[in-house]
Amino acid sequence: MFDFQLPADTPDDERYRELANAGDALTDGESDAVANMANLAALIWSFVPDLNWAGFYRVVEDELVLGPFIGRPACIRIAMGAGVCGTAAASGETQLVEDVHAFPGHIACDSASESELVVPVIRDGRVIAVIDLDSPKKGRFGEADARGMEALAGRIAGRI
Ligand code: SME
Repeated sequence: MFDFQLPADTPDDERYRELANAGDALTDGESDAVANMANLAALIWSFVPDLNWAGFYRVVEDELVLGPFIGRPACIRIAMGAGVCGTAAASGETQLVEDVHAFPGHIACDSASESELVVPVIRDGRVIAVIDLDSPKKGRFGEADARGMEALAGRIAGRI
C-alpha cells in the first residue's frame, strides 16, 4: 500500500520534490506505460490539492488520445494545436491558464474546471504525451506548480 498524503501546509517546493521522488520510486523498474501513467495520475491526485481532473493525453499518430486519469470522463481525442492540451503538445511548452474561459479554443471536458496546467512530456526531443491538471479554482496554478510538474515529467518521460 502507498500512502503519500502530505499536510495541507506543505510548501510547494517540498510538495513537488516529494511528488517527483514518489513518481520516480513508483515507476522504477516497471516497463508497462499504462500501469505507470495510472499510478502517476493517482499520485498527482493525492499530492496536488484542489484538482477536479488529473491525467495524461498521449501523442498517437499526430493527435492526442486520452490516457489514464482521475476525474470525470473526458474528451478522447484532441487535435495537435487544439485547446490547452493540443497547444502544449504542439509547442512543447507548458501552458499555465489562470482562467480557462479566457483561453481561445479551450476544450471544456468538465464544466467545473476554472484553471488548468498542461505540461509536455518530452523524450528524445519529442513530445510523447502531456500531463493535464484541472482545478475548480480560478488561478489555482502558479510558477511553482508549473516547474514542479515539469520536474515530474522529466523524471518519468522514459517510463510511459
Ligand atoms: N481542457 C483541455 C481538454 C482536456 S480536459 O480538461 C480533461 C483542453 O483545452 O485541451
